[in-house]
Amino acid sequence: MRSFGQLAVAALGCVSSVAAQYRHLNSSQIHTDSKGFRLQHGFETVLVQPYGYDGFRVRAWPFRPPTGDEISFLYDPPLEGPEAGAAAHGMNYDISTNGLEPLRLRNGKIVVQTFTAPVRNNVTNVRLAFYRVEDDGSETLLTNEYQPYKALNPRYYSWNGPGYEFSAAFSFSTTPDEQVYGTGQQQDHLVNKKGNTIDLINFNTHIPTPMFMSSKGYGFVWNSAAEGEMEFGALRNRFTSRTTTLVDYAITTADEGDYDTLQRRLTAMTGRAPQPPDWTLGYIHSKLRYENQTEFIQLAQEFHDRNIPVSMLVIDYQSWVHQGDWGLDPALWPNVSYMAEKVKELTGAEIMASLWPSVSDASDNYATMQMEGYLAALRSGPGITDSWNGSYIRLVDSTNPKARDFLWSKLKYNYYDKGIKNFWIDQADGGNLGEAYQNNGQSRYIESIPYPFADALYHAGTQMSVGKLYPWAHQQALEEGLRNVTNTQMGSPCDQVSLSRSGYIGSQRFCSIVWSGDTTSVWETLAKQVSAGLSAAATGWGWWTQDIGGFEKDQSVWWSANIDTPEFRELYVRWQQWATFLPFMRNHGSRDCNTQDAFTCDNEPWTYGESNTPTIVSYINLRYQLVNYTRALFSQLSATGRMIMRPLYMDFGMTDPNIMEMTKNNSNVTTQQYMYGPRMLVTPVTLPNVTEWSVYLPQTAGGNGTQPWTYWWTNATYAGGQSVTVPAPLEHVPVFHLGSRADIMSGDVF
Ligand SMILES: *[C@@H]1O[C@H](CO)[C@@H](O)[C@H](O)[C@H]1NC(C)=O
Ligand SMILES: *[C@@H]1O[C@H](CO)[C@@H](O)[C@H](O)[C@H]1NC(C)=O
Ligand SMILES: *[C@@H]1O[C@H](CO)[C@@H](O)[C@H](O)[C@H]1NC(C)=O
Ligand SMILES: *[C@@H]1O[C@H](CO)[C@@H](O)[C@H](O)[C@H]1NC(C)=O
Ligand SMILES: *[C@@H]1O[C@H](CO)[C@@H](O)[C@H](O)[C@H]1NC(C)=O
Ligand SMILES: *[C@@H]1O[C@H](CO)[C@@H](O)[C@H](O)[C@H]1NC(C)=O
Ligand SMILES: *[C@@H]1O[C@H](CO)[C@@H](O)[C@H](O)[C@H]1NC(C)=O
Ligand SMILES: *[C@@H]1O[C@H](CO)[C@@H](O)[C@H](O)[C@H]1NC(C)=O
Ligand SMILES: *[C@@H]1O[C@H](CO)[C@@H](O)[C@H](O)[C@H]1NC(C)=O
Ligand SMILES: *[C@@H]1O[C@H](CO)[C@@H](O)[C@H](O)[C@H]1NC(C)=O
Ligand SMILES: *[C@@H]1O[C@H](CO)[C@@H](O)[C@H](O)[C@H]1NC(C)=O
Ligand SMILES: *[C@@H]1O[C@H](CO)[C@@H](O)[C@H](O)[C@H]1NC(C)=O
Repeated sequence: MRSFGQLAVAALGCVSSVAAQYRHLNSSQIHTDSKGFRLQHGFETVLVQPYGYDGFRVRAWPFRPPTGDEISFLYDPPLEGPEAGAAAHGMNYDISTNGLEPLRLRNGKIVVQTFTAPVRNNVTNVRLAFYRVEDDGSETLLTNEYQPYKALNPRYYSWNGPGYEFSAAFSFSTTPDEQVYGTGQQQDHLVNKKGNTIDLINFNTHIPTPMFMSSKGYGFVWNSAAEGEMEFGALRNRFTSRTTTLVDYAITTADEGDYDTLQRRLTAMTGRAPQPPDWTLGYIHSKLRYENQTEFIQLAQEFHDRNIPVSMLVIDYQSWVHQGDWGLDPALWPNVSYMAEKVKELTGAEIMASLWPSVSDASDNYATMQMEGYLAALRSGPGITDSWNGSYIRLVDSTNPKARDFLWSKLKYNYYDKGIKNFWIDQADGGNLGEAYQNNGQSRYIESIPYPFADALYHAGTQMSVGKLYPWAHQQALEEGLRNVTNTQMGSPCDQVSLSRSGYIGSQRFCSIVWSGDTTSVWETLAKQVSAGLSAAATGWGWWTQDIGGFEKDQSVWWSANIDTPEFRELYVRWQQWATFLPFMRNHGSRDCNTQDAFTCDNEPWTYGESNTPTIVSYINLRYQLVNYTRALFSQLSATGRMIMRPLYMDFGMTDPNIMEMTKNNSNVTTQQYMYGPRMLVTPVTLPNVTEWSVYLPQTAGGNGTQPWTYWWTNATYAGGQSVTVPAPLEHVPVFHLGSRADIMSGDVF
């Protein structure tokens, strides 16, 4: 019998009343085969449906029922579950209630119950509580809708604008010891988000996404495209949509500690990652920026001559004449087909090109797009969301299916048909290009003026009501285009990929890699990318990468991003060797140097000092040697949602009592160490001038650490459940493995 949320009972009158009501029920009152219930609660309606295995979906609205056209990131029905393959649930239900008598529905391991609780003397309202049914038949409270006595309703609606759209804030109980994993990607050193408040607004490097796994063994999705907040307090978790017409959330459960099953359930609801093309599992090379065809072919020639394998070479921005052309500048790239063939011939590599979502007045596409309604507008008028180098720019409205087709038609004609088949969706975070308003690319002096964000108007709604859809819709545009032209179905293995700076709930369903955005080239940022990747993974985004070396100079650090300094070279080597053990290994950045202009400084594997080149190249080679293993990790991700980058709580939360404690306070062990697949423990060096590194080796299954860890570089073995210090010269990233190296190399690990 597990604790019945004892801390919550101590803290909250309302939770004890859940228990009181619950004890009066008997099993014959549990509905196990219901299609769902509809609760009428004054002007408010709440629809609760069984959803997938062990889950429920809840929708709630005041007054006006949903139309069915609302934006949703949840599959109906989910990919897996008793109802998979059957008809959509739609708005079906077979029980109506006013909630005054407690009602219980069970779906597999999860039970939902209505309960009434006092809000003031002798006045109650109706709420929902969710329990997991344990193997022994007992029930564990996961969470319930939360309202302190005489305080805000747990399902709170308010009307701030002139129309029907409302702001919704839903509160759920939590306990101080609960841990919260996922929530998209932030730059915060946190694997456990407990105690944090996160704005649901996209910024460059921040992809807040209202979806999490709880250490209590449940997963939660707030299915809203609106901007808002998520708050993870001591007693209350709260999700806010600033303006919307419907509240929609889903919850699912698995046995305590079984995060693989939680991911399986969550990705069945939100999307499974397809299998990436095999060639993407190698080394992806990029910099800001190769300027023309001659230089680009020369780059391929150098990889060829130096016999360094490379899978994709990347053309960054300003390769066009005007923003919104979605084609290369013919003066600089005169023969694209020839270039693509030449690069292929020299290296076997594919090419990726950058596109920005912004359209300048000077682009040939501008007039058509303006006339056809393919551009975003603004509440205040003509839709200028920012400016760039003296030109106003507007955003392509990718929430409009016709605008997506238009964008793809240009990309296909200008790139795809000429042999550039992979696309980098840069800056498509929505609003002001993902940055605080800063007159992008112009004066630095006014960057800090606190303008509000652009309240853009899109085909699908306003920035505030659907802004979180915007980057997702770009991934969708590329998916639709690539699926069409390769004549493949969504979900089947991908032939080509996109790379996106942002994403949202279920982005993993696309052939699209999320990267961590424009980071700075300092040690602190390297360390932060580890927890960023672990949170992205827990959000379902297995296709994740980041910029080796960081993207740009931290202006306060003299050597930052300067390839001619030993300080940056050391950081680069540490960063690069770590990135060997990420879902995708991708080198990119804007570099400084002593001899060239920034934007043209080198970033190739052989440009970090002669003594470092063999080390850098050895990790690129190792990446290719590990391809069987990496492919197997992606296959599992695709089949079951099994995470590739695995925070330590996933595999050791139940076998090593220290792990949950360390995860709770986000100790460095749990924010900077992780499993890469089932066999490799990766513990990157995140400090300068290090020759040895202290690592915590988790206790493995078996309870007393009998399965040893092997240090990759010495083959020394260590028992789990202890901290060890291992040699970590600059050539060696600390990596440990379980089982034999031969199994890892063969990929035969599941
Ligand atoms: C269980 O509840 C049902 C419906 O309220 C009632 O008819 C039945 O007598 C109860 N059984 C027990 C054992 O209390
Ligand atoms: C309040 O509830 C109590 C207990 O149910 C009841 O005895 C009392 O009459 C109620 N008071 C009012 C004013 O309804
Ligand atoms: C191409 O770019 C290289 C590197 O910046 C530069 O040296 C060269 O002059 C450029 N060539 C042309 C044809 O623009
Ligand atoms: C591009 O290069 C190829 C191969 O050299 C050549 O056959 C073709 O005519 C060129 N196309 C243009 C437009 O220059
Ligand atoms: C900015 O605009 C000027 C003048 O139109 C042009 O010469 C320059 O190349 C542009 N710079 C960038 C970075 O686009
Ligand atoms: C691809 O797009 C073309 C042109 O829009 C359309 O005619 C065709 O049906 C699409 N093919 C597939 C497989 O979706
Ligand atoms: C975090 O927890 C671990 C394990 O309980 C403990 O050793 C460590 O001191 C804690 N760190 C902080 C910063 O509280
Ligand atoms: C944790 O990591 C950060 C970033 O690398 C570092 O500054 C800090 O010293 C580390 N703390 C401990 C206790 O190792
Ligand atoms: C590393 O140590 C050397 C000397 O021990 C020192 O000169 C250098 O500044 C250190 N580097 C960093 C990044 O702290
Ligand atoms: C611990 O190891 C011993 C021998 O190494 C073994 O007999 C025992 O079963 C193990 N205990 C657990 C809990 O795995
Ligand atoms: C460690 O073992 C592997 C085989 O598993 C071998 O290839 C490698 O050379 C060994 N390394 C050392 C330092 O002995
Ligand atoms: C990868 O697997 C293939 C076939 O399963 C095998 O031939 C190859 O040797 C493996 N690669 C490595 C590096 O072990």
